[in-house]
Amino acid sequence: MNTVTVVDHPLVQHKLTLMRDKNRSTKGFRQLLHEIGMLLCYEVTRDLPLEMTEIETPLQTMMAPQIGGKKLVFAPILRAGLGFVDGMLELVPSARVAHIGLYRDPATLTAVEYYFKAPEDVADRLVIVIDPMLATANSAIAAVERLKERGVQNLRFVCLLAAPEGVAKFHAHHPDVGIWTASIDSHLNDHGYIVPGLGDAGDRMFGTK
Ligand code: URA
Repeated sequence: MNTVTVVDHPLVQHKLTLMRDKNRSTKGFRQLLHEIGMLLCYEVTRDLPLEMTEIETPLQTMMAPQIGGKKLVFAPILRAGLGFVDGMLELVPSARVAHIGLYRDPATLTAVEYYFKAPEDVADRLVIVIDPMLATANSAIAAVERLKERGVQNLRFVCLLAAPEGVAKFHAHHPDVGIWTASIDSHLNDHGYIVPGLGDAGDRMFGTK
């Protein structure tokens, strides 16, 4: 319950520092997000159960481990969550993808849903919800709520940066959903931005500012 894993691998920390730099180009930011997406995916899938299967090597038959159960679902929260998906799919190419469209009302900072599409049997799968920034946590809480309404019981949340306020609020609503992040920053400012953070992740990856 309430588990938070800060992925302190040197490659993740190095790439995150490059991304925080306000002079990083859109192209560079996007590439780094892709790379960190792969590395965070590696960590969030670390304890997936393996099952033994018989294969034939060129020399003999053997029992060898493979990941068991149904394919994973990656569930990016639009739009910034999309930045992680390609990197994660490179590591887990057979994963399904659910899209959850939520935007943050700038006045109230609450999450407003405008799109939701998930595999029909999503309830039977491990769902990894993805959003680079866990700030107020309103979107993350709403996304997980939506998936739980669909019957999903096995959920994890991956982000690049988290604010302590966001972590606490998320776990107050969803203590059963573990968080994987590259950093827990200092605090949220009055506009709901993570400080020191890296600015608006969506704008920086899509070049919309
Ligand atoms: N979303 C962002 O993109 N950046 C923040 O700092 C907070 C929310």
